[in-house]
Amino acid sequence: MPVKNRFAELHAEITEWRRDIHTHPEVLYETHRTSALVAEKLRAFGCDEVVTGIGRTGVVGIIKGKTNTGNKVIGLRADMDALPMQEQTGLEYASQTDGAMHACGHDGHTAMLLGAAKYLSETRNFDGSVALIFQPAEEGGNGALAMVEDGMMDRFGIQEVYGMHNEPGLAVGEFALRKGPLLAAVDFFTIEIEGKGGHAAMPQQTVDPTLMGTQIHTALQSIVSRNVNPVDRAVVSVTSFQTGSDVFNVIPHTATLKGTVRTFSPDTQDMVEVRMREVANGIAATFGGKATLEYNRITPATINADTQAEFAEDVATVISGGCNEAPLVMGGEDFSYMLQARPGAFIFVGNGDSAALHHPEYNFNDEAIPFGSSFLSEVIERRMPAA
Ligand code: NI
Repeated sequence: MPVKNRFAELHAEITEWRRDIHTHPEVLYETHRTSALVAEKLRAFGCDEVVTGIGRTGVVGIIKGKTNTGNKVIGLRADMDALPMQEQTGLEYASQTDGAMHACGHDGHTAMLLGAAKYLSETRNFDGSVALIFQPAEEGGNGALAMVEDGMMDRFGIQEVYGMHNEPGLAVGEFALRKGPLLAAVDFFTIEIEGKGGHAAMPQQTVDPTLMGTQIHTALQSIVSRNVNPVDRAVVSVTSFQTGSDVFNVIPHTATLKGTVRTFSPDTQDMVEVRMREVANGIAATFGGKATLEYNRITPATINADTQAEFAEDVATVISGGCNEAPLVMGGEDFSYMLQARPGAFIFVGNGDSAALHHPEYNFNDEAIPFGSSFLSEVIERRMPAA
């Protein structure tokens, strides 16, 4: 059985929802219009419960199955937020909001989950309940954490969670996932370097923070190449180096380095932070200055539970005749917070030959809708077959 027939019928309608959301992108927790649209549709489908305002602008809809022998509840999650960037697709339904764009396909994720909700509320061919989770602020706001911290898992008795992301470059109709670690932990750092400013012609009276910054930047590169176990994976990227003002003859007093660290194992993550502090402090001390590292852990690694990942692979195989093994990706995803709270799996659905995620010409591929919606509803019908 490939895609469910019902989604061939609903394809045009779900596409309309997707394009409507695309035209009206909202960033971070400001998903007011999108959340209201989602809640209104869930109520119209006949969901048994629709709760708004979870994790600020998150929405949860509950659909009860035909039978309920064991109070099983599975969560299906979609993200709703857009990115703060300018769209350059030239689409007739392009963003009407200056500086906001659905460049990661969350419009598609939301529409596909709404499609599954419509189908599941019509058929209810399962045993237990499904929790439809629509989260804000996936892009740098940890909306998933906000919903978990708001007590969503306990409140609705959610036992397992499944999430999906579109993947440019993967053919439409294909899926990809892997067991265990899939996406990296995301950390941000700031190194404040303090020297002693003064006249550029009298360097002996100064402690040059620019020189310290360049040495620190260079030495940070040795952490991945010399400290991380070569069979493990890590990235240390300095992305910003601010020093001095726009003049030729002043040595500044301070400099600032910023960047990001990506790791999979918590031990490596800890070690990288320790080494960064040692490197920054040691080099600054060598030059007679001071360095302070501020290290913020933003999002943990996304780790698929074995049982649920194997099950998701079976479902993908039912729909598309197979499932690709996804490569490890150093990007991050805040669904990791839901996977820390409950076992589950995160899967990629093919977006075909589109522009890359976060590119101003990116667009979600509506041809992927029947596959995504079929996967989500099939997870429910197969994991909790009606008694
Ligand atoms: Ni995304």
